[in-house]
Amino acid sequence: MIDQHFHAERRQRLFDLLGGAAAVIPAAPLVTHHADCEWPFRQNSDFWYLTGFDEPDAVALLLPHRPEAERYVLFVQPREPGAEVWTGRRWGVEGALEHFGADVAHPLEDLPELLPQYLEGAEGIAFRVGHHPTVEPLVLKAWAAQLERQPRTGSAALALVAPCPLIHRLRLQKTPAELDRLREACRISAEAHELARQATVPGMGERQIQALIEQHFLASDARGPAYSSIVAGGDNACVLHYIANSSVLRDGDLLLIDAGCSLSDYYNGDITRTFPVNGRFSGEQRALYELVLEAQKAAIQAVSPGGTAEHVHNTALRVMVEGLLELGLLSGDAEGVIEQGAYRHLYMHRTGHWLGLDVHDVGAYRLGEHPVTLNPGMVLTVEPGLYVSDRLPVPEGQPAIDDRWKGIGIRIEDDVAVRACDEMACGHEVLTAAALKETADMER
Ligand code: GLY
Ligand code: MN
Ligand code: MN
Repeated sequence: MIDQHFHAERRQRLFDLLGGAAAVIPAAPLVTHHADCEWPFRQNSDFWYLTGFDEPDAVALLLPHRPEAERYVLFVQPREPGAEVWTGRRWGVEGALEHFGADVAHPLEDLPELLPQYLEGAEGIAFRVGHHPTVEPLVLKAWAAQLERQPRTGSAALALVAPCPLIHRLRLQKTPAELDRLREACRISAEAHELARQATVPGMGERQIQALIEQHFLASDARGPAYSSIVAGGDNACVLHYIANSSVLRDGDLLLIDAGCSLSDYYNGDITRTFPVNGRFSGEQRALYELVLEAQKAAIQAVSPGGTAEHVHNTALRVMVEGLLELGLLSGDAEGVIEQGAYRHLYMHRTGHWLGLDVHDVGAYRLGEHPVTLNPGMVLTVEPGLYVSDRLPVPEGQPAIDDRWKGIGIRIEDDVAVRACDEMACGHEVLTAAALKETADMER
């Protein structure tokens, strides 16, 4: 379980990276849905990672230049029965001290007055500009005042630095406790996919399937979907971000479902499965499904310490291009097709992304010229797909697509942790293995 010990340790790691810079990390605000209704609150993942505090508008200060008992300061909404009776319980200043490990806590309204004092003496200020419209002017004002006085006082924070690369370097590398939470998110997400496939019959609505999946998320005590569930019958699957989920499932079509849950502590699953609505693949559907599956398995095998996400992508791409050449959906030689990007009307996205507190999780993919090396504890999705439709023009020199292939959209997505070799696994662990994907398992 993620507990306060985890957050305290993450703060310590960040302190080690900050040097003498003071970090100002704001929480997320509430976001309006319409009129005076708000979306359910979603905490900023960086703020959550460092604090575990799940209320809006708070601000955390990490102050390496202050005495030991003043290094972690939280500004929070104070207890206020008149407000809490409408919007729910708040931890308040007392809770921030007692339950969230703050050295010092203040009501949020004191931030404008106290922030300049807390930042006094820092060698730099670590704050992400452009993202926090209420806190940013306070930080810039405090910094400007320090710089004005610097000729007389002889000291000021000279640099405004971005904390994100430091925090995101930490977040990219999951701890054992985080891996356990990701396993749990993947377990629930995989169960939902199994339920959905078993329930699907022609004539059902995409939204009915969505309801079934999201019901399972909530019944399993997840917050709900990690992202808008994609339940896409037939040609809808060729729209990568199809979230309308408003069509009826037709006999003879495939159904692509991309759905995963978000746990109470925000760890996410992200799974895609594709299967025939009526329980039997057509010849064309089967050929493409088996090709995507082969590419996905090869790409998963490429996940291992010392590898790269780029190599994982290139592995999937190579298998799919070779298969498409054999099927006559592409022509030429694999190398040339890949070099020219002449496959992009059929496969137009990358093969995966980091996964964690954000579904498209933070962390660099490249460091300058070099792709980031995979290390044990990193988690990525492996999700090749093929999407055959008229939407994109066929590149010059490539064959026109026969109608029998059109309306087939397939993606197979698993969540994979990079793992050193031990008695349980070697190179990787497929966290979503409980969601079946073999061709025979997709049929009935
Ligand atoms: N569900 C979003 C993605 O697969 O990237
Ligand atoms: Mn994904
Ligand atoms: Mn997905």
